[in-house]
Amino acid sequence: MQINAPKGTQDILPAQIRRRHYAESVIRDVCRAFGYREIRTPTFEHTELFSRGMGETTDVVQKEMYTFADKAGRSVTLRPEGTAGVVRAYIENGMSSLVTPQKLYYHGPMFRYENVQRGRYREFWQFGCEILGVAGARADVEIISILAMFFFKLGLLKVDLRINSIGCPKCKPAYHALLREFIGARLGGLCDDCRTRFEKNPMRALDCKQETCKKILAGAPLSLDHICPECADHFEALKAGLSELDIAYKIDKTIVRGLDYYTRTVFEFMSENIQSLGSSICGGGRYDSLVSLCGGPDTPGVGFSVGIERLLMELDSYGVELPAPERVDIFLIAVGERAKTYAAQIVNRLRAAGRSADMDLLDRSVKAQMKYADKLGAALTAVIGDDELKKGALVIRDMDTGSTREVPMENLYLELI
Ligand code: HAM
Repeated sequence: MQINAPKGTQDILPAQIRRRHYAESVIRDVCRAFGYREIRTPTFEHTELFSRGMGETTDVVQKEMYTFADKAGRSVTLRPEGTAGVVRAYIENGMSSLVTPQKLYYHGPMFRYENVQRGRYREFWQFGCEILGVAGARADVEIISILAMFFFKLGLLKVDLRINSIGCPKCKPAYHALLREFIGARLGGLCDDCRTRFEKNPMRALDCKQETCKKILAGAPLSLDHICPECADHFEALKAGLSELDIAYKIDKTIVRGLDYYTRTVFEFMSENIQSLGSSICGGGRYDSLVSLCGGPDTPGVGFSVGIERLLMELDSYGVELPAPERVDIFLIAVGERAKTYAAQIVNRLRAAGRSADMDLLDRSVKAQMKYADKLGAALTAVIGDDELKKGALVIRDMDTGSTREVPMENLYLELI
């Protein structure tokens, strides 16, 4: 019986990898320009890191984690996101004693057991940046400006930034009490999740995807109207910083984000295309308590993650031109054993010099080798047989123009390298 890939996972085939390489090259360029250095953390971590960091009452922790006991009985979880692992690595590797701020980026697969649909997978890739060690809004502005630059460089001009503030440990309790009161009076019509979670974390109800809950909670008090003066100043500084850099934004008081670690700034980048799937291309915000919650020194942080599959969907919808596919520089069509040995040596030397050179490995006929060279998109081809060996020269054909030129064997490398 044929075995297929698990639901919600995807093979990224050679024909599709070009789009990813293109996005990755822009990621690296932009991160280098902003001074962010790459960090790679494990794809699985102790479960507690996520349950503590992202919040016990979040959908991700309650319903979407790939959690299992390893052979020694430890509970481990495939990472559903990158921030908690970066924070854990920051603490564990004593990165707080290195230069401050630490400006880090990552790119890799994440895992969530979600209902699979277009743009929502069980294994998906994220690119994210985190800046650790800055409480001021300049860091929030920088984080958002990375995204603005990234989307601009990719030619994605129809993505809108929405920002909000959800307050800090000082002002959240009073707001939560208000929200609890509002929700408590309407519990009857809400879904089981909202009913069980509202006591512990009433903001989770505002993130509920059920249409009936959304309707009932439409008039709920919103955090931005209840933040403390310090959070309001921070939000003003964020808005001013964005305007200074000409980054357009909309204030969206309904953004609460699906993870619990956020304080103050939260933001999302939306596009019409992705919004129709009920989701964002990218989300992020400030998390000033996460490092200490994970056992590290009190350190503020802010960051974002972009979903690569959603980004690629957006690129496709714009019809953005990608760089041309990589082609084989030269394909040698060898006929006969002596010629094959000779061709193998040339191909090897060209490869060592950094050129992409290829030849047949299947003892195909000359015609079939030509077809194969064509399928590989070879820029040049040359036939080597007994005649060419005797003559000491090859005829090189330019596959785009059809033009040919004879090159003596002794000049071959100079001509091709
Ligand atoms: P998030 O909003 O959970 O935030 O995910 C960020 C992005 O990952 C989403 O906007 C979306 O593009 C993509 N994404 C999430 N789930 C899926 C899925 N099932 N299939 C495809 N794409 C998906 C975070 O993960 C935070 N760590 C962001 C952050 C970084 N906050 C601060 N620093």
